[in-house]
Amino acid sequence: MKGVVLAGGLGTRLYPLTKITNKHLLPIYDQPMIYYPIRQLVDAGIREIMLVTGGSFAGHFLNLLENGGGFGLRRLHYAFQRGEGGIADALKLAEDFVDNDRCVVILGDNIFEHSIAPAVEKFRQQTEGARILLKEVPDPQRFGVAELHEGRVVSIEEKPAHPQSNYVVTGVYMYDAYVWEVVKTLKPSRRNELEITDVNNAYIARGTLCYDIVEGWWTDAGTFESLLRAN
Ligand code: DAU
Repeated sequence: MKGVVLAGGLGTRLYPLTKITNKHLLPIYDQPMIYYPIRQLVDAGIREIMLVTGGSFAGHFLNLLENGGGFGLRRLHYAFQRGEGGIADALKLAEDFVDNDRCVVILGDNIFEHSIAPAVEKFRQQTEGARILLKEVPDPQRFGVAELHEGRVVSIEEKPAHPQSNYVVTGVYMYDAYVWEVVKTLKPSRRNELEITDVNNAYIARGTLCYDIVEGWWTDAGTFESLLRAN
Protein backbone atom coordinates (compact mmCIF):
# COMPACT_ATOMS: atom_id res chain seq x y z
CA MET A 1 0.00 0.00 0.00
CA LYS A 2 1.36 3.41 -1.01
CA GLY A 3 0.57 6.75 0.60
CA VAL A 4 0.01 10.07 -1.17
CA VAL A 5 -0.16 13.42 0.63
CA LEU A 6 -1.65 16.21 -1.47
CA ALA A 7 -0.27 19.60 -0.49
CA GLY A 8 -0.57 21.64 -3.66
CA GLY A 9 -2.85 24.59 -4.31
CA LEU A 10 -2.07 28.22 -3.62
CA GLY A 11 -3.83 28.65 -0.27
CA THR A 12 -5.32 31.97 -1.34
CA ARG A 13 -8.00 31.76 1.36
CA LEU A 14 -5.20 32.15 3.94
CA TYR A 15 -3.56 35.19 2.35
CA PRO A 16 -1.36 36.97 3.58
CA LEU A 17 -0.08 34.01 5.68
CA THR A 18 0.49 32.12 2.42
CA LYS A 19 2.39 35.02 0.87
CA ILE A 20 5.57 33.78 2.56
CA THR A 21 5.20 30.01 2.71
CA ASN A 22 3.00 27.09 1.68
CA LYS A 23 -0.28 26.69 3.56
CA HIS A 24 0.67 23.19 4.74
CA LEU A 25 3.74 24.48 6.53
CA LEU A 26 1.77 26.84 8.78
CA PRO A 27 1.69 25.79 12.44
CA ILE A 28 -1.09 23.73 13.96
CA TYR A 29 -0.30 24.17 17.65
CA ASP A 30 3.28 22.93 17.99
CA GLN A 31 3.86 21.35 14.58
CA PRO A 32 3.69 22.24 10.90
CA MET A 33 0.32 21.26 9.39
CA ILE A 34 1.90 18.73 7.02
CA TYR A 35 3.19 16.58 9.95
CA TYR A 36 -0.35 15.50 10.84
CA PRO A 37 -1.32 13.83 7.55
CA ILE A 38 2.13 12.27 7.11
CA ARG A 39 1.91 10.81 10.60
CA GLN A 40 -1.55 9.44 9.84
CA LEU A 41 -0.14 7.43 6.93
CA VAL A 42 2.86 6.22 8.94
CA ASP A 43 0.59 5.19 11.85
CA ALA A 44 -1.47 3.19 9.37
CA GLY A 45 1.65 1.17 8.51
CA ILE A 46 2.44 2.91 5.22
CA ARG A 47 6.16 3.33 4.56
CA GLU A 48 6.24 4.50 0.93
CA ILE A 49 4.89 8.02 0.71
CA MET A 50 4.77 10.67 -2.02
CA LEU A 51 4.15 14.33 -1.26
CA VAL A 52 2.63 16.36 -4.09
CA THR A 53 3.03 20.11 -3.79
CA GLY A 54 3.53 23.17 -5.97
CA GLY A 55 3.82 26.94 -6.01
CA SER A 56 6.71 29.23 -5.14
CA PHE A 57 7.51 27.63 -1.79
CA ALA A 58 7.71 23.98 -2.78
CA GLY A 59 11.36 23.95 -1.72
CA HIS A 60 10.37 24.68 1.87
CA PHE A 61 9.09 21.11 2.17
CA LEU A 62 12.56 19.72 1.44
CA ASN A 63 14.09 21.93 4.11
CA LEU A 64 11.58 20.75 6.66
CA LEU A 65 10.99 17.10 5.82
CA GLU A 66 14.28 16.11 4.16
CA ASN A 67 14.08 12.35 3.44
CA GLY A 68 11.31 11.68 5.93
CA GLY A 69 13.72 10.25 8.52
CA GLY A 70 11.89 12.11 11.28
CA PHE A 71 8.91 9.86 10.54
CA GLY A 72 11.00 6.68 10.35
CA LEU A 73 10.89 6.66 6.54
CA ARG A 74 13.85 5.59 4.43
CA ARG A 75 12.98 8.22 1.86
CA LEU A 76 10.19 10.55 0.93
CA HIS A 77 9.09 10.95 -2.70
CA TYR A 78 8.12 14.34 -4.11
CA ALA A 79 6.15 15.58 -7.12
CA PHE A 80 5.52 19.13 -8.31
CA GLN A 81 2.04 20.23 -9.43
CA ARG A 82 1.96 23.18 -11.84
CA GLY A 83 -0.90 25.57 -11.05
CA GLU A 84 -3.84 24.39 -8.98
CA GLY A 85 -5.83 22.15 -11.24
CA GLY A 86 -7.60 20.39 -8.41
CA ILE A 87 -7.17 17.46 -6.06
CA ALA A 88 -7.59 14.86 -8.80
CA ASP A 89 -5.07 16.74 -10.97
CA ALA A 90 -2.54 16.56 -8.13
CA LEU A 91 -3.27 12.86 -7.63
CA LYS A 92 -2.48 12.15 -11.31
CA LEU A 93 1.16 12.96 -10.57
CA ALA A 94 1.40 9.93 -8.27
CA GLU A 95 0.43 7.30 -10.87
CA ASP A 96 3.94 6.02 -11.62
CA PHE A 97 4.85 6.07 -7.94
CA VAL A 98 1.79 4.01 -6.93
CA ASP A 99 2.52 1.67 -9.87
CA ASN A 100 -0.51 -0.68 -9.79
CA ASP A 101 -0.38 -0.96 -6.01
CA ARG A 102 -3.28 0.43 -3.98
CA CYS A 103 -3.04 3.82 -2.33
CA VAL A 104 -4.27 5.88 0.58
CA VAL A 105 -4.57 9.55 -0.37
CA ILE A 106 -4.78 12.22 2.31
CA LEU A 107 -5.23 15.97 1.93
CA GLY A 108 -2.44 17.98 3.50
CA ASP A 109 -4.85 20.23 5.40
CA ASN A 110 -6.97 17.56 7.07
CA ILE A 111 -6.54 16.97 10.80
CA PHE A 112 -8.14 13.99 12.57
CA GLU A 113 -8.33 13.39 16.31
CA HIS A 114 -7.96 9.62 15.97
CA SER A 115 -5.84 7.36 13.81
CA ILE A 116 -7.21 6.35 10.39
CA ALA A 117 -5.40 2.98 10.78
CA PRO A 118 -8.60 0.91 11.45
CA ALA A 119 -10.17 2.17 8.19
CA VAL A 120 -6.96 1.49 6.25
CA GLU A 121 -6.97 -2.03 7.70
CA LYS A 122 -10.53 -2.56 6.39
CA PHE A 123 -9.39 -1.34 2.97
CA ARG A 124 -6.56 -3.89 3.07
CA GLN A 125 -9.24 -6.60 3.54
CA GLN A 126 -11.40 -5.15 0.74
CA THR A 127 -10.88 -7.07 -2.51
CA GLU A 128 -11.44 -4.13 -4.87
CA GLY A 129 -12.77 -0.60 -5.16
CA ALA A 130 -12.44 2.50 -3.02
CA ARG A 131 -13.04 3.53 0.56
CA ILE A 132 -13.75 7.01 1.93
CA LEU A 133 -14.26 8.48 5.39
CA LEU A 134 -17.42 10.44 6.18
CA LYS A 135 -18.11 12.81 9.04
CA GLU A 136 -21.34 14.43 10.23
CA VAL A 137 -20.89 18.22 10.37
CA PRO A 138 -23.14 21.26 10.91
CA ASP A 139 -21.97 23.09 7.74
CA PRO A 140 -22.01 20.45 4.94
CA GLN A 141 -22.29 22.99 2.09
CA ARG A 142 -18.52 23.68 2.49
CA PHE A 143 -17.64 20.11 1.47
CA GLY A 144 -18.39 17.13 -0.73
CA VAL A 145 -21.71 15.84 0.64
CA ALA A 146 -22.75 12.17 0.60
CA GLU A 147 -26.30 11.07 -0.05
CA LEU A 148 -26.87 7.84 1.88
CA HIS A 149 -29.50 5.20 1.17
CA GLU A 150 -29.84 1.84 2.92
CA GLY A 151 -26.29 1.94 4.22
CA ARG A 152 -24.66 2.89 0.93
CA VAL A 153 -23.40 6.15 -0.56
CA VAL A 154 -25.59 6.69 -3.62
CA SER A 155 -24.10 10.01 -4.74
CA ILE A 156 -21.68 12.75 -3.72
CA GLU A 157 -22.23 16.39 -4.54
CA GLU A 158 -19.43 18.97 -4.30
CA LYS A 159 -20.38 22.01 -2.19
CA PRO A 160 -24.15 21.83 -2.80
CA ALA A 161 -26.38 24.80 -1.95
CA HIS A 162 -28.98 22.31 -0.64
CA PRO A 163 -27.12 19.36 0.94
CA GLN A 164 -28.80 15.92 0.91
CA SER A 165 -27.35 15.09 4.33
CA ASN A 166 -24.95 16.31 7.00
CA TYR A 167 -22.42 13.60 6.11
CA VAL A 168 -19.43 15.04 4.28
CA VAL A 169 -16.47 13.41 2.58
CA THR A 170 -13.28 14.03 4.52
CA GLY A 171 -9.86 14.24 2.87
CA VAL A 172 -8.94 10.54 3.02
CA TYR A 173 -9.48 8.46 -0.11
CA MET A 174 -8.38 4.86 -0.63
CA TYR A 175 -8.22 3.55 -4.17
CA ASP A 176 -7.36 0.49 -6.20
CA ALA A 177 -5.67 0.83 -9.61
CA TYR A 178 -9.01 1.64 -11.32
CA VAL A 179 -8.48 5.24 -10.13
CA TRP A 180 -5.91 5.81 -12.90
CA GLU A 181 -8.49 4.97 -15.57
CA VAL A 182 -10.96 7.36 -13.95
CA VAL A 183 -8.63 10.36 -13.61
CA LYS A 184 -7.88 10.24 -17.34
CA THR A 185 -11.59 10.75 -18.14
CA LEU A 186 -12.18 13.78 -15.86
CA LYS A 187 -13.24 17.16 -17.20
CA PRO A 188 -12.69 20.46 -15.31
CA SER A 189 -15.59 21.50 -13.07
CA ARG A 190 -17.28 24.89 -12.74
CA ARG A 191 -14.39 26.01 -10.51
CA ASN A 192 -12.03 24.78 -13.24
CA GLU A 193 -10.60 21.88 -11.22
CA LEU A 194 -10.45 18.12 -11.66
CA GLU A 195 -12.66 17.09 -8.76
CA ILE A 196 -12.00 14.17 -6.44
CA THR A 197 -15.79 14.00 -6.02
CA ASP A 198 -16.05 12.94 -9.68
CA VAL A 199 -13.56 10.15 -9.00
CA ASN A 200 -15.61 8.94 -6.03
CA ASN A 201 -18.84 9.11 -8.06
CA ALA A 202 -17.20 6.87 -10.70
CA TYR A 203 -16.63 4.23 -7.99
CA ILE A 204 -20.28 4.64 -6.85
CA ALA A 205 -21.39 3.98 -10.44
CA ARG A 206 -19.37 0.73 -10.35
CA GLY A 207 -20.87 -0.23 -7.00
CA THR A 208 -17.45 -0.44 -5.34
CA LEU A 209 -17.32 2.57 -2.99
CA CYS A 210 -17.24 1.68 0.72
CA TYR A 211 -17.12 4.06 3.65
CA ASP A 212 -16.50 4.45 7.35
CA ILE A 213 -17.71 7.15 9.70
CA VAL A 214 -14.94 9.13 11.43
CA GLU A 215 -15.03 8.98 15.21
CA GLY A 216 -13.69 11.92 17.18
CA TRP A 217 -13.25 15.37 15.71
CA TRP A 218 -12.05 16.21 12.23
CA THR A 219 -11.38 19.50 10.50
CA ASP A 220 -9.75 20.94 7.45
CA ALA A 221 -7.50 23.98 8.00
CA GLY A 222 -7.80 25.91 4.75
CA THR A 223 -9.71 28.95 6.01
CA PHE A 224 -8.97 31.25 8.93
CA GLU A 225 -11.88 29.83 10.89
CA SER A 226 -10.93 26.18 10.32
CA LEU A 227 -7.21 26.94 10.90
CA LEU A 228 -8.12 28.40 14.27
CA ARG A 229 -10.32 25.38 15.03
CA ALA A 230 -7.52 22.99 14.05
CA ASN A 231 -5.19 24.77 16.46
O1 DAU B 1 -11.46 18.71 3.31
C1 DAU B 1 -12.35 17.87 2.65
C2 DAU B 1 -12.87 18.49 1.36
O2 DAU B 1 -11.71 18.74 0.51
C3 DAU B 1 -13.88 17.58 0.65
O3 DAU B 1 -15.08 17.49 1.39
C4 DAU B 1 -14.22 18.10 -0.75
O4 DAU B 1 -15.03 17.18 -1.42
C5 DAU B 1 -12.93 18.32 -1.55
O5 DAU B 1 -13.20 18.89 -2.82
C6 DAU B 1 -11.98 19.26 -0.79
O6 DAU B 1 -12.61 20.53 -0.71
P1 DAU B 1 -11.84 21.95 -0.64
O7 DAU B 1 -12.49 22.90 -1.58
O8 DAU B 1 -11.83 22.37 0.81
O9 DAU B 1 -10.39 21.63 -1.12
P2 DAU B 1 -9.17 22.62 -1.26
O10 DAU B 1 -9.21 23.32 -2.58
O11 DAU B 1 -9.09 23.49 -0.02
O12 DAU B 1 -7.95 21.64 -1.25
C7 DAU B 1 -7.72 20.77 -0.17
C8 DAU B 1 -6.31 20.22 -0.24
O13 DAU B 1 -6.10 19.54 -1.48
C9 DAU B 1 -5.23 21.27 -0.17
O14 DAU B 1 -4.92 21.52 1.19
C10 DAU B 1 -4.12 20.67 -0.97
C11 DAU B 1 -4.79 19.74 -1.97
N1 DAU B 1 -4.82 20.32 -3.34
C12 DAU B 1 -5.86 21.15 -3.72
C13 DAU B 1 -5.88 21.70 -4.99
C14 DAU B 1 -7.03 22.60 -5.42
C15 DAU B 1 -3.79 20.04 -4.22
O15 DAU B 1 -2.85 19.29 -3.85
N2 DAU B 1 -3.82 20.59 -5.47
C16 DAU B 1 -4.83 21.42 -5.91
O16 DAU B 1 -4.80 21.87 -7.09
